[in-house]
Amino acid sequence: MPIAVPTFGAKGAVPPDVSVSDIRDLVVRPAKVGDARAMSALINYYAADNVMLARGPQYLYQHIQDYIVVSLPSGEEETIVACGALHVLWEDLAEIRSIAVHPACQGLGLGKILVDTLVARCENLGIPRAFVFTLVDDFFRKCGFRPIDRKDLPPVVWAECSKCPKFYRCDEISMMRTLKAVADSAKAEDN
Ligand SMILES: CC(C)(COP(=O)(O)OP(=O)(O)OC[C@H]1O[C@@H](n2cnc3c(N)ncnc32)[C@H](O)[C@@H]1OP(=O)(O)O)[C@@H](O)C(=O)NCCC(=O)NCCS
Repeated sequence: MPIAVPTFGAKGAVPPDVSVSDIRDLVVRPAKVGDARAMSALINYYAADNVMLARGPQYLYQHIQDYIVVSLPSGEEETIVACGALHVLWEDLAEIRSIAVHPACQGLGLGKILVDTLVARCENLGIPRAFVFTLVDDFFRKCGFRPIDRKDLPPVVWAECSKCPKFYRCDEISMMRTLKAVADSAKAEDN
């Protein structure tokens, strides 16, 4: 299914050349608006193959507080090599979105670091469940997510899905992770 991929005005945006020899050189931090162009290049590189949803400037600026990035600093400059987001949907549910790792940096554990960082953010917000729609279910299994029947997802998810270009022919797998610490403390408060 062809989709429109926003490119910040640059046709065929591709992530910059990069090589990471030691992941200890990398910094994980909240995204800033100045990162939006680099995040969009990374995300849309994969979106062009329908592997993930495209994200353009308007979406990224308006949701910038959802995003974290992994950057490779070099003097005054830095290169964004990975990004991901956590979007709060309801008091008990948040969605992991836009996990993208630069093709030259895959297999180093960055994807898992992103997901773990976002799950920790979810936990810190007191939200007991995180879910994802994905085509890479084996990766998310490694991150503690389990498949869930999409009809068991609450209506608030469908309100979001209705904005998605894949709405009528969604090929993604829905997966959920329950954050035990938050769920346990909510149960204790109820008792
Ligand atoms: C999927 C993606 C985020 C994984 O990032 P990564 O940094 O290469 O993954 P990691 O190195 O953190 O891998 C963590 C574990 O998942 C496994 N894994 C990674 N990608 C996998 C895949 N595509 N299929 C199955 N397992 C995978 C790794 O082998 C590793 O397992 P281990 O802990 O037993 O060693 C990355 O390949 C990517 O950006 N893909 C394109 C965009 C995309 O599909 N994003 C997901 C949108 S929902």
